[in-house]
Amino acid sequence: MATPASSPTPPRIRLLATGGTIAGAQTVGGRGYQAGALSIEALIGAVPQLAAIARLEVEQVAAIGSQDMDEAVWLKLAARARAALAEPELAGVVITHGTDTMEETGYFLNLVVPSAKPIVLVGAMRPATEISADGPMNLYNAVAVAAHPEAAGRGVLVVANDEIHFAREVAKTNTTQVGTFKATHRGLAGLVHAGRLHLYAPPVRRHTAGSEFAVLPVTALPRVDIVYAYAGMGRELIDAAVRAGAKGLVVAGVGDGNLNAAALAACAAAARAGVAIVRSSRTGGGVVERNLEVPDDELGFIAADELNPQKARVLLMLGLTRTADPAALQALFFAY
Ligand code: SIN
Repeated sequence: MATPASSPTPPRIRLLATGGTIAGAQTVGGRGYQAGALSIEALIGAVPQLAAIARLEVEQVAAIGSQDMDEAVWLKLAARARAALAEPELAGVVITHGTDTMEETGYFLNLVVPSAKPIVLVGAMRPATEISADGPMNLYNAVAVAAHPEAAGRGVLVVANDEIHFAREVAKTNTTQVGTFKATHRGLAGLVHAGRLHLYAPPVRRHTAGSEFAVLPVTALPRVDIVYAYAGMGRELIDAAVRAGAKGLVVAGVGDGNLNAAALAACAAAARAGVAIVRSSRTGGGVVERNLEVPDDELGFIAADELNPQKARVLLMLGLTRTADPAALQALFFAY
């Protein structure tokens, strides 16, 4: 167990704010709220205890609900995190973010930011103005994790609901409950209770300082779309993605990333035309195995291994900045 870092001079932590429900304010007289309505200064002001564990420096990178997160903001965030962490005196970075797409942003940063220092994403399920808002404690815990030297070298982390997750493993699994984040495959990175850390085993897959995508800043990403499979699916959506210029396509297949005959024929044609086809699964868990019911070797397909469709899309975009060779792309899915 590790106690919150508290010294006469607490560590410097850069807070990069992007919005989300953690910065949400309820609309007057209604059940609704606007994500990203409050400034990062307002969020910090609600947690005066932060001053004892970190010297916070804030930067408002965006003020959006994370449904509006996109590749342009990812690239900006990566650049800001990269620049901050290159400062020798800076101990870590905390990013406030909506929970809806936090897993994608976290996994992207996990692959492109070349630093062993802690990078922690944090959000909340209840807006800041709601009864029993979860944001203030989540923010306190996130800063405590980022400020703690033992959190280094574990890749990008996500903190919420007293849990510390690896960005690669975490998935949002519930629409509204505060315990929405689950580690779908390899377990939790640890727990954090009122700033006290309990860290578990470090991650096995490559990340941050060990990622080939972190060597040089990524400046542009190719178009990759996701198509969701279902009983009775046709080929039209796959063909439309190819016509729209997708360089890669992730299929959220049924079961072990399976597709019916019509969808399989469309994907095979796309692969022959040079579009990278990744088979992921809509099940929410498990490994997509190669060559079980789909002849991947013959068709030139890639299996997503453990990555859900939205994370497979992130890795495929980055992979396509290096290669279009299915075998080389498959190797990335076994490494990251
Ligand atoms: C969002 O992702 O911005 C809205 C939902 C949330 O933050 O919980």
